[in-house]
Amino acid sequence: MTSSSAPGKIILFGEHAVVYGYPALAVPVTQVQATATVNKKSRRGMIIEAPNINLTSELSSLALDHPLSVVIHGVYSALKITHIPACTLYIQSTIPVASGLGSGAAVSVAVIRALSEFLGQPFTNEEVNKLAFEAEKIYHGTPSGIDNTVVTYSKPVYFIKKKPIKTFHVGVPFSIMIASTGIAAPTKESVDSLRMLWQADKPLWEKVFTKVGEVVWNARQAIERGDIDELGRLMDANHTLLQKMNVSCVELDHLVVAARIAGALGAKLSGGGRGGNMIALVEKEKASDISRALNKAGAKRTIVTQVA
Ligand code: PMV
Repeated sequence: MTSSSAPGKIILFGEHAVVYGYPALAVPVTQVQATATVNKKSRRGMIIEAPNINLTSELSSLALDHPLSVVIHGVYSALKITHIPACTLYIQSTIPVASGLGSGAAVSVAVIRALSEFLGQPFTNEEVNKLAFEAEKIYHGTPSGIDNTVVTYSKPVYFIKKKPIKTFHVGVPFSIMIASTGIAAPTKESVDSLRMLWQADKPLWEKVFTKVGEVVWNARQAIERGDIDELGRLMDANHTLLQKMNVSCVELDHLVVAARIAGALGAKLSGGGRGGNMIALVEKEKASDISRALNKAGAKRTIVTQVA
């Protein structure tokens, strides 16, 4: 038997603009995890069991463009394996789907690691990341690659599409509260709709993305210096730019405002938007007040994660 777990993630700054080559900052969220376990079995073929998505299927009955199928066949083809060994792949995840926490990427990474170990040829992080990116294309259409990267390396990353991965130093640890709108929002839809806006007026949107890039760069410096107040202001500035991109929604805006009123130093949507999660920068002593305010404002759950 082999087993592997991968964390969730949040994008702190720069989502959407990152698809167009601008930088973004993301961190792993280890409180939520996807776990893949591979067991030998006697009958031929591979059985996949993923109770969170109500899936029990033979690999051979799964559509070839199903993200799990892409991941599993990707592993076999990278290892040049043509004869599929008899096994059961069990996938369990505590990461809510379609909510900006990287559940698809975490499942892919956990499956790739567990399966390659089961086959006796564990992949390097670089190989895992490359294969997980292929599945992201199915979830997202034109992904930047940020989700698979932060989940694979499980480290804070300063990410620019197609550039070598860079991590960043955290001057003073800080706490981020993640609040869910409870609305499942496929990232592909918000990415596609922004692409249409961009195609209609590229100079305008490149200006907006350039501003996002400046916010991201300043945020990285604020994190490195441990300037938490500045970090909060930059989160607010990033949210305003995301609203301009039309990827926020009433529920997200409502949570963002509630967090700020309850004392958060800054707040913004995180990930694809139009639902999913918002994040707020919180001081420890104010965390329970902010969590209460968010629940009152409609949050379906809140999680606090430390960035250190
Ligand atoms: O919705 P999430 O958390 O998977 O994040 C998507 C981030 C985007 O920038 C919107 C898309 C991408 O591929 O980077």
